[in-house]
Amino acid sequence: MIRVLFNKKGGVGKSSLTCNLAAISAAKGLKTLVIDLDTQCNASQYLLNSPEPHNSLEPRIKSLDQITDNMAQFYDQTITFHIRKKPTIEFVSPTAFENLDIIPSSPELDQLHTKLESRHKIYKLKEGLEQLKGYYDRIYIDTAPALNFYSLSALIAADRCLIPMDCDEFSRQAIYNMMQHLMEIKEDHNPALEVEGIIANQFMARAKVPLQIINELKAEGHKVLESTISSSVKMRESHQVHMPLIHLAPKHKLTLELVALWEEIEGGEK
Ligand SMILES: Nc1ncnc2c1ncn2[C@@H]1O[C@H](COP(=O)(O)OP(=O)(O)OP(=O)(O)O)[C@@H](O)[C@H]1O
Ligand SMILES: [Mg+2]
Repeated sequence: MIRVLFNKKGGVGKSSLTCNLAAISAAKGLKTLVIDLDTQCNASQYLLNSPEPHNSLEPRIKSLDQITDNMAQFYDQTITFHIRKKPTIEFVSPTAFENLDIIPSSPELDQLHTKLESRHKIYKLKEGLEQLKGYYDRIYIDTAPALNFYSLSALIAADRCLIPMDCDEFSRQAIYNMMQHLMEIKEDHNPALEVEGIIANQFMARAKVPLQIINELKAEGHKVLESTISSSVKMRESHQVHMPLIHLAPKHKLTLELVALWEEIEGGEK
């Protein structure tokens, strides 16, 4: 099962939710991989550079800078001929958390995308991920706030799309615009793509406008997930110590909401 978190609007919680849902999945015993396709590298920074090595017997990767296996290398080999093509699994790095691996992003992806586009490499991610089916139960892809080459590749490779939103008027407009794109991608490239739902992040239950926006989106037939995620400084604290909330504060309200969200999307999945 491959999920992509996507919203063209920036700062809505894509990276935070990708990493935390993936960490919950891993903590529940599912072999889970995060793929970071955003050159800001936020998900990579969050899940790597961990201050606490998980297993002292194994030298754990501590810094993103020390990792050379990343998405830029994965893509680079698709346009470099006469070299041995490495299987996708060789680009994976472990994190400090059990069952949780990552293929980190790299700023070099910015330089590569024109070449990739001109050589029609939009399906390479899908092909690459096919190889990982036997290794991972769940794959979560974090994307940049744009419908660029990489996010389009992710939407072509994924089974499901989750759309985090902050519940304001600009976000609502972004949702309409995005739904149109998603329908086109489904029709032209990936008929199996399912919009799993909109996630109300940093939701203020007591304020009038967010609830109104959610209710209106629902009334218009958009799938909005029932679980909402409130705003808490714990999220920033979790980024700062590079530890997803399920490990940092398993009993915290925000963590419980994230677990409820994970349970809602997992439903009866195997
Ligand atoms: N539930 C939350 N509570 C408090 N802060 C949050 C929450 N979700 C996200 N944030 C904060 O909002 C900011 C943006 O979050 P994040 O980076 O996950 O969004 P994004 O959609 O990935 O952004 P970008 O579009 O730049 O990639 C971060 O500073 C993060 O700490
Ligand atoms: Mg992000």
